[in-house]
Amino acid sequence: MSRLSSRLLNWYRRNKRTLPWRDHPDPYAVWVSEIMLQQTRVETVIPYFQKWMQRFPTIKALARADEQDVLNAWEGLGYYSRARNLHKAAKIVAEKNDGELPQDLDQLRALPGIGRYTVGAIASMAFGMDEPTLDGNLRRVFARLFDVTEPADSPAGEKLLWGLAAKHLPKGQAGDYNQALMDLGATICLPRNPRCLLCPLMTICKARIAGTQEERPVLKPKKETPHYVHAAGIVRRNGRVLLAKRPSKGLLGGMWEFPNGRVEGDPALGLVNALKTGYRLKVRRREALGTVRHGYTHFSVTVYAFRCEPLSVPKGESLRWVRVSELDEYPMGKIDRQIARMLSDV
Ligand code: ADE
Repeated sequence: MSRLSSRLLNWYRRNKRTLPWRDHPDPYAVWVSEIMLQQTRVETVIPYFQKWMQRFPTIKALARADEQDVLNAWEGLGYYSRARNLHKAAKIVAEKNDGELPQDLDQLRALPGIGRYTVGAIASMAFGMDEPTLDGNLRRVFARLFDVTEPADSPAGEKLLWGLAAKHLPKGQAGDYNQALMDLGATICLPRNPRCLLCPLMTICKARIAGTQEERPVLKPKKETPHYVHAAGIVRRNGRVLLAKRPSKGLLGGMWEFPNGRVEGDPALGLVNALKTGYRLKVRRREALGTVRHGYTHFSVTVYAFRCEPLSVPKGESLRWVRVSELDEYPMGKIDRQIARMLSDV
């Protein structure tokens, strides 16, 4: 075993974090946790993971669940395609493999939402296979250990880093090795102010020796993200409020929102037209209720909400009158949940 892996595994034995999915006997639990952890911090994930496992304790239970319940359980974690893909994949596994996650790299990779990272994580942690994996933490750790100057988010950098992840993998201990790297990345090899003096790999870290640890990983220059202005109608009638269901594909797919649309210029002036164009919904605009801002990965939005009176509401599945007390049952993104809370408070 290399010096790198023996030191790392020793450190892990003494310092590993206690996490509810760690050393869990059920590969499904490992799968769920890895999907949740992809874009979300460990502390945020823990309560979601525990609730999820109570609500959908097996792959078959998840496969049987209604998509709205699945999205509801995910609400607040963001990146909702992860939940929709998990649900889709559970249905496939329930049908084709009697609810057992396949112990085969290609079959795993073919499931919706499971990419190279997740295959490596599940194979090594749940099935004890000698597979590497590479997430943001591991990229940073390897980029520093080997002082990688290739941008980590370029194809050449990716290739190099996957190669390094595989190269030092200790046979028979890949699961612990991968998780040790994750813990090291999360607690010692931090993005800023890494705690090098506490690191078990300090003396063999090339970036540390060169003093470049703060500059690794190198990343491609970021593009500026656009900002959009939306106007939303809070349309009320007889103690109910109008919700719209988003198309099942794309951002926040299958979730609910207050009817809204992108506007140019003054949102108060663009609202009526935006709702007409987007939903064939005709309203009379009343007073402004407030604004909510949210940053997504590739853009940010400010939503201006206005109370509205309905003039003409088209029939159909995608618009629904909902009691304010029932808004919690409808899965929503951060912006709309915030608006919903404002309505429940008054
Ligand atoms: N981040 C992603 N997967 C993880 C795991 N299994 N343990 C700790 N942090 C993680």
